[in-house]
Amino acid sequence: MKQPKTRFYCTECGNETPKWAGRCPACGAWNTVVECPETRGKGGGRTSVRVTERPRACPMTELQDSVEIRFSTGMGELDRVLGGGAVKGSLVLVGGAPGIGKSTLMLQICGRLCEFAKVLYVSGEESQHQLKLRAQRLRVERENLLVLSETGLEEMLEAVGQERPDVLIVDSIQTLYHDTVDSPAGSVSQVKDCTMALMRLAKESGITVFVIGHVNKEGSIAGPKVLEHMVDCVLYFEGDRHTFFRILRAAKNRFGATNEIGVFEMGDGGLTEVENPSRMLLSGRPEEAPGTCVACVMEGARPVLAEVQALVVTSAGGQPRRTSNGFDYNRAVMLLAVLEKRGGLKLSSCDAYLNIIGGLQLDEPAADLAAVVALASSYLDKPVPGDLAAIGEVGLTGELRSVSQLSQRISEVRRLGFKRCVVPAHRGLEGDSELRLLPVRNIGEAIRAALQG
Ligand code: TYD
Ligand code: MG
Repeated sequence: MKQPKTRFYCTECGNETPKWAGRCPACGAWNTVVECPETRGKGGGRTSVRVTERPRACPMTELQDSVEIRFSTGMGELDRVLGGGAVKGSLVLVGGAPGIGKSTLMLQICGRLCEFAKVLYVSGEESQHQLKLRAQRLRVERENLLVLSETGLEEMLEAVGQERPDVLIVDSIQTLYHDTVDSPAGSVSQVKDCTMALMRLAKESGITVFVIGHVNKEGSIAGPKVLEHMVDCVLYFEGDRHTFFRILRAAKNRFGATNEIGVFEMGDGGLTEVENPSRMLLSGRPEEAPGTCVACVMEGARPVLAEVQALVVTSAGGQPRRTSNGFDYNRAVMLLAVLEKRGGLKLSSCDAYLNIIGGLQLDEPAADLAAVVALASSYLDKPVPGDLAAIGEVGLTGELRSVSQLSQRISEVRRLGFKRCVVPAHRGLEGDSELRLLPVRNIGEAIRAALQG
């Protein structure tokens, strides 16, 4: 008899290798390659309904027009991230750190979904009693909302077959267990196998499936990363657990764009949607304090204002420290070098810290200028006026470059009540009585314009 084959997976990126390695050849992470015995058959998840017809390739022109059927989840911010509502028969993976609010979000959408659909919420994390308490708290108790506390995949699929829900929510993929796979719940082969079965269920029965998956920083358990390629849509729920703000972001979407974000606030009654993220991100901003400047970035189609904070202090000696939080590290280091060489600030003997408030990740060059101004403001110990924002990309010669959708960004700055905005000069834009534009050509001019007011 043939020996069952063994495969190896990286728990970090999901890469499969025939041999064990101390370092994953795909992502380069150390000690993340784990062994997992191959399951019987291929692909696993053979429990759902099987297609009996023979497969046949078909000319594209003969395919019937199929329009994806979308429905609103009742939460505008979630609909936005999904690309305009959830698609019938799709599988959406909702990932995030434990305790960030994934279960809360999913249970909350049940309340609205139940108005027109039958929803089954399967939890392997909480008992029915706990779910009841949580549903009471979130005020989502409905007759159409069925709950099941179960970790067995087969049992769950049986319940699905009996109840025939329109929407299935699985909380979480790490607690789901399939008997035919000989490894513990939460292992790579278990989560892959169970996801495959759920994917098949969604496609064959038209049930919309939401699957919750925990990610942890160490990547020690099989997280949503290894499932990304299988599912239709991957959403990440992010935010600092110590603040109230939560950001939902699409990492993959077969039915829409991935650049939209949804913003929520966690409160006593669960999550509430934040329709004006700029206002939220700027709340509590210290005015007239050195080392902070407001930037404007595009999150999908929406301009969002964010506060960039910098702290520059004399280094205690040795290699100066540089850290950045919410801002690309390499970009921050580059901006520091440009400030040193072209702005004349002696930063090489200073430690520099850059931080974006509110858990936002600024990965757009348009935020360069605000970072440069914040750094200079901290170094010179001069505050940036509270009614001033800065938009622009900084080049290696210290020149300022224009950015896309500048007029949209400027409108957002105006809407939020700012009076002055530093912008790249080479652009035929004009300010008005409400918002004065300060056109600058390089970082030297920008620092002077921003810190002299
Ligand atoms: P939860 O949805 O259980 O997180 P996850 O499923 O991602 O692990 O949410 C956990 C946190 O949210 C918990 O620490 C308490 C907080 N919370 C509130 O602040 N208000 C609420 O109404 C609820 C339900 C939870
Ligand atoms: Mg949970």
